[in-house]
Amino acid sequence: MKTLIKNGRIITAVDDYRADILIEDERVSTIGAKLEMEVDNVIDASDKLVIPGGIDPHTHMELPFGGTKASDDFLTGTRAAAHGGTTTIIDFAVQYKGESLIQGIDNWHQKAEGKTAIDYGFHLITTELEDNQIEELHTAMDEGVTSFKMFMAYPGVFLVDDATIFRAMSAAGERGGLICMHAENGIVINEIIKHALAKGHTAPKYHALTRPTIAEAEGVHRAIAIAEMAESPVYIVHLSCADALNQVRQARDRGIPAFAETCPQYLFLSIDDYGDDFEGAKYVMTPPLREKANQAELWKGLKMDDLQIISTDHCPFCMKEQKELGRNDFSKIPNGAPGVENRVPLIYNGGVVENRISLNRFVELTSTAAAKMFGLFPKKGTIAVGSDADIVIFDPEKEQTLGLKTSHMNVDYNTYEGKKIKGVVETVLSRGKVVIQNGEYKGKPGDGQFLKRGTCVSM
Ligand code: URP
Ligand code: ZN
Ligand code: ZN
Repeated sequence: MKTLIKNGRIITAVDDYRADILIEDERVSTIGAKLEMEVDNVIDASDKLVIPGGIDPHTHMELPFGGTKASDDFLTGTRAAAHGGTTTIIDFAVQYKGESLIQGIDNWHQKAEGKTAIDYGFHLITTELEDNQIEELHTAMDEGVTSFKMFMAYPGVFLVDDATIFRAMSAAGERGGLICMHAENGIVINEIIKHALAKGHTAPKYHALTRPTIAEAEGVHRAIAIAEMAESPVYIVHLSCADALNQVRQARDRGIPAFAETCPQYLFLSIDDYGDDFEGAKYVMTPPLREKANQAELWKGLKMDDLQIISTDHCPFCMKEQKELGRNDFSKIPNGAPGVENRVPLIYNGGVVENRISLNRFVELTSTAAAKMFGLFPKKGTIAVGSDADIVIFDPEKEQTLGLKTSHMNVDYNTYEGKKIKGVVETVLSRGKVVIQNGEYKGKPGDGQFLKRGTCVSM
């Protein structure tokens, strides 16, 4: 199968030029001016941007959490991702207490196998790691799961102690693996929550008011300090505020390999979105939305490379029957929100159109940097001869209004309802196959393949 993409403006993390792209089967085989050859399919990309498929390294498809499970499965969630210009996700498998690491990975393979619309990899949420399990962590890495998420939050569910974090960082770091930290002091937060509930503060906005930025900054500081002692890198997930960012910045200024991602919700939404009533449950996610002033700081962090990646932390729960579990107690609202479909266009609009970042940086933040951080580059994350033909034809001028009506995520609300943005995903190729054409899904469940990842090449 040969496909020719003609007349497009190719943007990578470093390039910006006009050329044609020949795809043979699953890969880019030639890039050149005015290519003329017999092919099966010609895509005209005149006046369009041609960018590498987005990589979202933080999703939770059908994660069992908060007494229910995330409403997107690997089929609906990856299809929605494709609609939004994302061609790779890295989802979080879970090793529950008492389970082996490999068992956790196998369980997620079963959930994803034969369902996904795009390629996918796994991190492993690690809730237990004794000395006698370190060999198994290395086996997981050999099987392509080279990053592990650990939690300083959610006591009794995912939280691990500092000794376990140190052990995991040492073991992963030794082989070039990466610990992804949910950095928030969940023990102190739980005490603050108890006090709030005792005062009758049950509305969703108290989710944010009981998780101060200093609890996140303390977690980030501690995660980086433990990583330094373990002589390993660390990657902070879903960083939400300036206080936490300053910890990363200070470490990086000292030459410490500390990395971090933020998410669109922290760039475009704020604590004001909780309001006073139960509608605020839509925005109950962890860390919570912050005061607006944090947004400019996060953009500065993205521009100056103190933040390297924009992921989504896609973890949707419907208002009906799911978020409702916490109608009378904010601490029982399942934590998480949808976003996998909206990330690429939102960052194009808020970043490039609104003059905060360059086009190259937009591609780097939404694709290339994640490929490098999580061992997928140059197979993924760029447009180059030999790379997978994961390509998005993006209309930079067309406008759209985000909202439930046009969304493909399996959830009953959209956090950006009514937001008008410039930039629309027109066509998406996943390993050379057109999966989205003029906004219509053309793929089938199981098109996506599991990605055995290598190690980080960002350091
Ligand atoms: O609220 C969130 N973020 N839910 C998903 C789990 C996590 O902490 O990433
Ligand atoms: Zn988390
Ligand atoms: Zn998450």
